[in-house]
Amino acid sequence: MFYLFIHNERQIGGCDASILLDGPNSEKTTPPNLSVRGFDVIDAAKDAVEKVCPGVVSCADIIIMATRDVVSLSGEVDTSIVATANQLFALKGLTTTDMIYLLGGHSIGIAHCSLFKDRLYNFKNTGKPDPTMDLALLSSLRKTCAQNATIDRTANLDQNPYSSAVVDKSFYSQIIKRRGVLKFDQDVASDRLSKSTVARIARSSILTLNLGQAMVKLGAGQVPSQDIQGTNQEKHASC
Ligand code: HEM
Repeated sequence: MFYLFIHNERQIGGCDASILLDGPNSEKTTPPNLSVRGFDVIDAAKDAVEKVCPGVVSCADIIIMATRDVVSLSGEVDTSIVATANQLFALKGLTTTDMIYLLGGHSIGIAHCSLFKDRLYNFKNTGKPDPTMDLALLSSLRKTCAQNATIDRTANLDQNPYSSAVVDKSFYSQIIKRRGVLKFDQDVASDRLSKSTVARIARSSILTLNLGQAMVKLGAGQVPSQDIQGTNQEKHASC
């Protein structure tokens, strides 16, 4: 999620953190964002940072750091990682369904062993693999990612060998079959918030259209390109 948030905000260009800005017509007060909680915490963090380093850290940086902390804590609190991700997408006015369509980005591409190796050998420090992983996938990923490997190899995010390079819905069928490589992908297939949507997409035939629409929605809050490079990012004293 942290990874994606950075993608959203820095690469796709939606991250001016404008949701945090005060004012009668600001994004913070527009209807889709009224339900977003945590402004006070983020404002307080920004105030504290401003006192030490005025004008250095942007509001977007504060969101990113807060997100990282929420994600790292989410194993300890009664909030699923999918619910936490959902809240972050809501910051951009995106629904759970949008998020799940966007995850269709994982119907292509790869992940490094280092990012999921714990699931193969020592899940949650049990010394055992993640019990939710399909056994055939476990065996195959263990071959790709040896426990004592010195090179960080990669595996396809879509484990259907016939479509790992094609944007299609087979990724969703794979995660339903417990063949998700990343823990987050697997969680999306089983979390009560998202599993029915995953099942619906796996049965439907219109993934690419909806993925495209969700990406347009994601990019709707784009900032000028020099901001994406970080050269002209606005640094507000208060978020
Ligand atoms: C919802 C939250 C998301 C999470 C937690 C997430 C996480 C990740 C992670 C951990 C990797 C592996 C990176 C590596 O091993 O170097 C990855 C790869 C990738 N992700 Fe995501 N991602 C998310 C959403 C998305 C979205 C929305 C898209 C596109 C629409 C996307 C497209 C990709 C692609 C194409 C790759 C493969 C990169 C490559 O082949 O080098 N991801 N993602």
